[in-house]
Amino acid sequence: MSDKIHSVPDLPDAAVHIWRVPLLATPAALAYYHSLLAPDERARAARFHFEIHRQHFAIARARMRILLSAYSGCLPVQLAFSYTSYGKPYLSHPSLVFNLSHAHEMAIFGVTRNRAIGVDIEHIRADLATDDIANRYFSKEEIRALRALPAEQRCAAFFRCWTRKEAYIKARGEGLSMPLADFEVCLEETEELWLSNHQDPHEGARWQLRNVPAPAGYVAAAAVQGCDLNFKYIDWSDAPPTAA
Ligand SMILES: CC(C)(COP(=O)(O)OP(=O)(O)OC[C@H]1O[C@@H](n2cnc3c(N)ncnc32)[C@H](O)[C@@H]1OP(=O)(O)O)[C@@H](O)C(=O)NCCC(=O)NCCS
Repeated sequence: MSDKIHSVPDLPDAAVHIWRVPLLATPAALAYYHSLLAPDERARAARFHFEIHRQHFAIARARMRILLSAYSGCLPVQLAFSYTSYGKPYLSHPSLVFNLSHAHEMAIFGVTRNRAIGVDIEHIRADLATDDIANRYFSKEEIRALRALPAEQRCAAFFRCWTRKEAYIKARGEGLSMPLADFEVCLEETEELWLSNHQDPHEGARWQLRNVPAPAGYVAAAAVQGCDLNFKYIDWSDAPPTAA
């Protein structure tokens, strides 16, 4: 099997490409995907208890490698990830910056140049959108905004809040060392999104927060450093690699 993707769009400096990647693959593609993984990634895959989780991890990692290969010109197997002390993978490639998120049967992968990016996708589950979880993870203002909504709108707003917070955390790359109550995001279903950080009044202007259009049953968001960015949303199936 070839490990060349047919084509990816150009990625000029202000461009942000968000790929929606399903985590399903044929047995032949799966075997190929495993062959693309580095030894540490194979070891991680092997540690998952359930086969389906092994598969999802391997497909997400391999497809991320295939996409990064197309943007960087390196072969997928040649990409060597480094990790920050919080576990965020990065490449020593001078300009490419990326982030991955997976939930249930979908992943999203965001890539840009010379600026921080974080993405998050969640599978909507009403049983997770509880007051207890909101009280634990959201700021006072977010909890107040959530409670002000009619009951039937709260589940969707909960996941919008969660994914926007998580995308920002992931862009900053500091994991949960960043206090979740120190910043808030808007919950509205609007195009004009904002975040505000109590520790730094200028922080909101440094980031663009975006809804990422997601398949039914999922909510997704991206946070990218900078302004005047050009977002493009692409489905994996629109540029099928010859390997898949
Ligand atoms: C990795 C982390 C940042 C997100 O984990 P998650 O939501 O379970 O998983 P996602 O699928 O969105 O992201 C995982 C991917 O992010 C990347 N990643 C790992 N560490 C990261 C970090 N510190 N920052 C950004 N990205 C990271 C990896 O590519 C990882 O993929 P992999 O598992 O295939 O290696 C997790 O360490 C974390 O801190 N989660 C916070 C959870 C939380 O309580 N959120 C509250 C939001 S309101």
